[in-house]
Amino acid sequence: MNQSPPPSGFDLSLNLVRRPRRNRKSDWVRRLVRENILTADDLIWPIFVIEGENLRTPVASMPGVERLSVDQTVVAARKAVELGIPAITLFPFTDPDLKDPNGSEALNENNLVCRAVRAMKQAVPQLGVITDAALDPYTSHGHDGLMEGEKILNDETVAVLVEQALNQARAGADVIAPSDMMDGRVGAIRMALDREGFLDVQIMAYAAKYASAFYGPFRDAIGTKAALIGDKRTYQMDPANSDEALREVEMDLEEGADMVMVKPGMPYLDIIRRVKETFGAPTFAYQVSGEYAMITAAAQNGWLDGDKAMMESLLAFKRAGASGILTYFAPRVAEMLKKG
Ligand code: PBG
Repeated sequence: MNQSPPPSGFDLSLNLVRRPRRNRKSDWVRRLVRENILTADDLIWPIFVIEGENLRTPVASMPGVERLSVDQTVVAARKAVELGIPAITLFPFTDPDLKDPNGSEALNENNLVCRAVRAMKQAVPQLGVITDAALDPYTSHGHDGLMEGEKILNDETVAVLVEQALNQARAGADVIAPSDMMDGRVGAIRMALDREGFLDVQIMAYAAKYASAFYGPFRDAIGTKAALIGDKRTYQMDPANSDEALREVEMDLEEGADMVMVKPGMPYLDIIRRVKETFGAPTFAYQVSGEYAMITAAAQNGWLDGDKAMMESLLAFKRAGASGILTYFAPRVAEMLKKG
């Protein structure tokens, strides 16, 4: 070590017993004391499905993300397995002609999501397939539930969500993820699944889902942006609230949720931490479309290092207590982790 003497005339001795920097002095010790780690096992890859064949269409507000035709979702599924990603989750871009106020297409056993589930489970049965229960990809008004005038009907919507969940389970979905935020839907879906013998189909509840501006690019990706009338504040949570998230999670767990989710991700790390510490249940974070767009746009402008920002953002979810992360970065980060 080259120990240069302190400049004469200055007493630099701070007499520090504790010097945290010692444990940061080299890569080997930084690795040794590291408290959290991100691996491919932590990732869930959200995939957008579109009608067509051999088709991939770019999502303008999410550079690097494409909508995939059913055959291409199988290609993605194989890639997920190869990269060690445990599960994918599906969102459909529904043809506007198929949308109606009741979201009937959600119950079609041959809708895009059902066809993709069947194709993926047939090609790569070992990959976990999660489907979203909510009506917004199918309703002409863009809301997650049925409407009467301006009002989103709760119990009537739950009845349809139950049918939607059964439709997805029959297609072979491993996990149903209700993202609609209607009261009581987890319990109703659990009962219906059990009644039909789907005892092993899990429920990942979007338990604490906030009415967020960060969903913008997603609505572009599934084509609900133009359609949406008003906002979702009568069912999604107020970003000002934290205790309420715990009550939502508690209800979903009591109703039979196997896993819970906090959404969006980065602005809600405090909620992830509280949920994980309070319930100790498998707790997932959704790094949503707007978060992906922010990091990607800044990187494209050369304003930050995209790969590093991506890695840091994902590790932060682990540090906050998340069991895993739904992220559009999944294939990219898994590839990087594989290379080491
Ligand atoms: C809708 C749903 C949304 C997302 C997942 N499911 C959007 C919304 O509530 O409007 C957002 C995901 C994202 O922004 O990446 N049920």
